[in-house]
Amino acid sequence: MKVRPRINRWTISRRNLIFDSSIKSSLVQPHFVVKGENIDQEIKTMPGISRQSVDVLIKTISSDMDLGIKSHMLFAVIDSHDKDANATIASMDDMHLQEAVRKLKDEFGDEIVILTDVCLCTATNHGHCGIIDHNHRIDNDLTIEELCKIAISHAKAGADYVSASDMMDGRIKSIRNALEENGYTSTGIMSYSVKYASSFYGPFRDAADSSPDFGDRNSHQMDFRSGYEEAIMESLEDQKEGADILMIKPAIAYLDVVRKVKDRVHRPVAIYNVSGEYSMLMNSFNEDSRGNAIVEILNSFRRAGADIIVSYHSREVFAKNLLG
Ligand code: PBG
Repeated sequence: MKVRPRINRWTISRRNLIFDSSIKSSLVQPHFVVKGENIDQEIKTMPGISRQSVDVLIKTISSDMDLGIKSHMLFAVIDSHDKDANATIASMDDMHLQEAVRKLKDEFGDEIVILTDVCLCTATNHGHCGIIDHNHRIDNDLTIEELCKIAISHAKAGADYVSASDMMDGRIKSIRNALEENGYTSTGIMSYSVKYASSFYGPFRDAADSSPDFGDRNSHQMDFRSGYEEAIMESLEDQKEGADILMIKPAIAYLDVVRKVKDRVHRPVAIYNVSGEYSMLMNSFNEDSRGNAIVEILNSFRRAGADIIVSYHSREVFAKNLLG
């Protein structure tokens, strides 16, 4: 498999995100993007986070950039009448997510790092992360074909990293090959390598309207009863297949796994402080007491070995200067 270590060195912003030792420069702010104009809908289960149309998103990200947040992760939220069984819309170049990426890259160029979520679940009418076969099971390899199309469409729009969050077997290798074949040799892949089937994604699924309408995600996301060997195997496999960043998700209940993986891999490690963890903290602390709790948690991520931290708290860290 072709390894391109230059991908993580490609722009100054990528280098700062991955290699700077400060917690602040490791932070990535997630966003939910909807079709339309002038839409800014707060997500009830995630105080402070909203679904935004491209015009509003650009303003939000401009102000984040002014605060110093240079890395942004985008999730497409798709109207139910635009969804189908095969997530066709997700790989369309004129989709609102791709439009947002193009506009942000036009505006900020190499100053911004854009990571886009690559999965089928927000675009399928059944809410599953893949193509369903006649036995109601996810067909791994057919799903990978769609994931590659989505990744290429995001790369074409200008994403710095495509972030595969689906947990199909072998998708990193296929996405890497697809990027190579299409000439996207500086587009990175952030793999959700160790993604557990977790209760902590609940608020995200409200935000992205991506709950499965039957069954669950246990046939592809990892069983939280599995031990370190499984986590290490998944990470090493993705490293071998050509991932540029390896992610562990969720964060707070899995810090031991982050450390074990970090000690075994040779690629940067990311941690995802997910929606349920965010809501838990937002609901348990008030404005004044929250800051210290956020800083404490962020330090635990760094201690565990995370080079990159995806967190809905990022904006507050910068806006209130929590880390100085
Ligand atoms: C898409 C995806 C999910 C999250 C990130 N990408 C949801 C899921 O797997 O159901 C969760 C993020 C969060 O909870 O903040 N597959």
